[in-house]
Amino acid sequence: MTAKFKRSDGREFDELRPIEAKVGVVPNADGSAMYKSGDTIAIAAVYGPRKMHPQHQQNPSKGQLRCDYNMISFSVSERIRPGKNRRSTEISEITKWALEPVLLLGMYPNQVVDIFIDIIQADAGTRCAGINAASLALAHAGIPMKEMVSSIAVGKLDKTLVTDLTKEEEDYEGGEGPTDIPISMTHDGKITHMQLDGKIGVEQLKDAVDLAKEACEKIYEIQKKALKDAIDMGNGEKK
Ligand code: CDP
Repeated sequence: MTAKFKRSDGREFDELRPIEAKVGVVPNADGSAMYKSGDTIAIAAVYGPRKMHPQHQQNPSKGQLRCDYNMISFSVSERIRPGKNRRSTEISEITKWALEPVLLLGMYPNQVVDIFIDIIQADAGTRCAGINAASLALAHAGIPMKEMVSSIAVGKLDKTLVTDLTKEEEDYEGGEGPTDIPISMTHDGKITHMQLDGKIGVEQLKDAVDLAKEACEKIYEIQKKALKDAIDMGNGEKK
């Protein structure tokens, strides 16, 4: 790692793309949020807790979380075929795993909390942006949570670790090839989700987790501010 390293968009190795976050963007939902990181934009809408349908899926001992991640057709320049595919099904499941540990679902037997995530513009890091938006939307919906979850991808450009990769960086084929490590964690550093696509040694993986921690602290502050701004504007209450 070297602090002198410059990226194609001029960022430092550990610098995040410009972030915007806002809650209350989908008035019909019980809670909602927009999270933008550079050219990646995610919208999340939460409905519930509400009675689980189909009924045979009800769990009398605790409530359940359902996540639906979707990249909409015009989110990238090559039109995406609408509907579910293997990638969106996997990311929906991963999003659920990332968020479930912080939710107090024991309070809602036989019920379900639904989260719908739409990526309206994609330039890598969409699963992380979706998790950040979803965490905000859950808080905005007033779902009892132990913690917020913040998420970021750390990757490698040749041998150098970088935070918050763009699509151009994710596709970098030089050196040891592309490595992408999306990580989600609570504010006190408990990892709720981690994936690894590519190759990395154990020591460098520890450095990657440290970089993700630094980034997630910054994201957490932005999430907190988005919620506070909504409360200040009288938009922080569940409808
Ligand atoms: O978005 P994320 O990095 O979480 O997941 P990915 O599967 O590694 O996808 C990386 C990027 O590839 C996306 O953010 C999009 O910019 C792009 N992509 C695309 O152009 N068309 C697809 N069908 C899927 C992804």
